[in-house]
Parts: sequence; structure tokens; C-alpha cells
Amino acid sequence: MGQREGMSRQVVTVDGLGASGKSALARHLAERLGYAHLNSGLLYRSAGFLAHRAGIPLDDGTRIAAELKQHSIILQHDPVLGAIVVINDKPYEAELMARDISEAASQVAKHAQVREHFLGIQRDAFAPMGVVAEGRDMGTVVFPEAAVKFFVEARLDVRAKRRFEQLLSKGQGADLESISHELAERDNRDATRSTAPMKPAQDAVIIDNSDTPLEQTVDRMLDIVTSHAKGN
Ligand code: DC
Repeated sequence: MGQREGMSRQVVTVDGLGASGKSALARHLAERLGYAHLNSGLLYRSAGFLAHRAGIPLDDGTRIAAELKQHSIILQHDPVLGAIVVINDKPYEAELMARDISEAASQVAKHAQVREHFLGIQRDAFAPMGVVAEGRDMGTVVFPEAAVKFFVEARLDVRAKRRFEQLLSKGQGADLESISHELAERDNRDATRSTAPMKPAQDAVIIDNSDTPLEQTVDRMLDIVTSHAKGN
């Protein structure tokens, strides 16, 4: 069942810049609302991972889309890890956060055929549950009818530090300067591609996630969702 047919399904979208903290915000917001956390970045990371593993050049959208059709890729919720992706019955999370996979994900996400492959998967994921859908084009392309849309930003220095700590916590070495450079480059690629570029939906609420504590920002987002539901 696609989203257009399933109009009763509640959808809140959380798009935003890389390492802006949108995953943590989306996860907490989903928990508070009793919705599923739909992390679409994990799909593009899976595509980057599978293309890389099959030795397909990252600029070959047709071959990558054909490769994707050979695999089962399902978004799921793990009680400990939270949002995970299950590829051919095997769960993946940490290995998809590696730097080379982040880069590959952004490269493969440019291709219309790859995005098309994931469209139905995203619209059907966790149905009929409500979802907090996180990514780059959730509010603009995948769920344009979403009730409430957010776009999360944060200063580059804050985002670089966040990604640095995330990589360290997963046992992956990194240096702050090159992470900052990679993030800026990837955001530029994601924002300037011709298919589904990263941008705030016209009706999105912009959230600056540079300095405010997580709980406070989640509370504010929850207030916005709740007052929308009441018709305020
Ligand atoms: O949110 P993330 O950092 O896990 O996303 C990884 C890459 O996937 C990112 O560089 C852009 C791409 N992406 C996308 O193009 N569209 C989405 N809805 C989500 C992610």
C-alpha cells in the first residue's frame, strides 16, 4: 500500500544536513509519539555498500539499480540499536556508518533509478504505523502530504564534532578537519543534485540543532506536532 492510498497513516518528516543530529531527534520524537523511526539514509547507505561490494562504479546508476533488485533491503527497528536495515536477512547498522560508505551513499543517491527503487520501500515501511521519516527528501518527495515537516540544521563545526564522536564510539578512527571537509562536500553534492535535492519543504519548520540540548529540541518539535494535531 503506497502512502497516497494510506492517507490515515500519520507522517512527520525530519530532513536536514548530514550529522545535524536529525537521527537522534527523529528517534526520540518517534518514541514520544509512539511512531516508527524511518531512517531513509540507511537505504542509501545500503545501496552504497552493495555497489561497493559488487565492484560497480558509483556513477553507474543503471547497474546499481539492477544490483539493488537482487537483494532484499528492509528497514526495521531493533530494541537496542534502534533503526537498522536488514539486507538479505542480515542486520546492518555500525558498518554502514563507516566513512567510505557515507561517501558512497551520497554518490549513489544522485541517481534517479536508485531513488526510484527506494520510493515504494519508504512509503510502505512500517505501515500502517505512524512514522517519523528522516532523510533529505522526506518532506519534498517521499511524503509531500506529511502533517508536519521539519528541516534540521547545525553549524559545520558542531556537525563535524558530532560525526567525529559518532565514529570514535563505533571504534573508527577519524580526524576532525577531514570530517568537516567531507561533510561540507557531501552536503553540497546532496543539495545540488538534479533528482530530489536536499532542501527544506516550503512548509517545513527550520530547527537549529547547534547548541540547544536534545530534550529541549524534542519537546519543541513534539509541541509543534501536537498543536498541529489539535488544529492550532
Ligand atoms: O542521513 P545519512 O547521513 O545517513 O544519509 C547518507 C546519504 O544518503 C546522504 O549523503 C544523502 C543520502 N540520502 C538521500 O539522498 N536521501 C535521503 N532521503 C536520505 C539520505
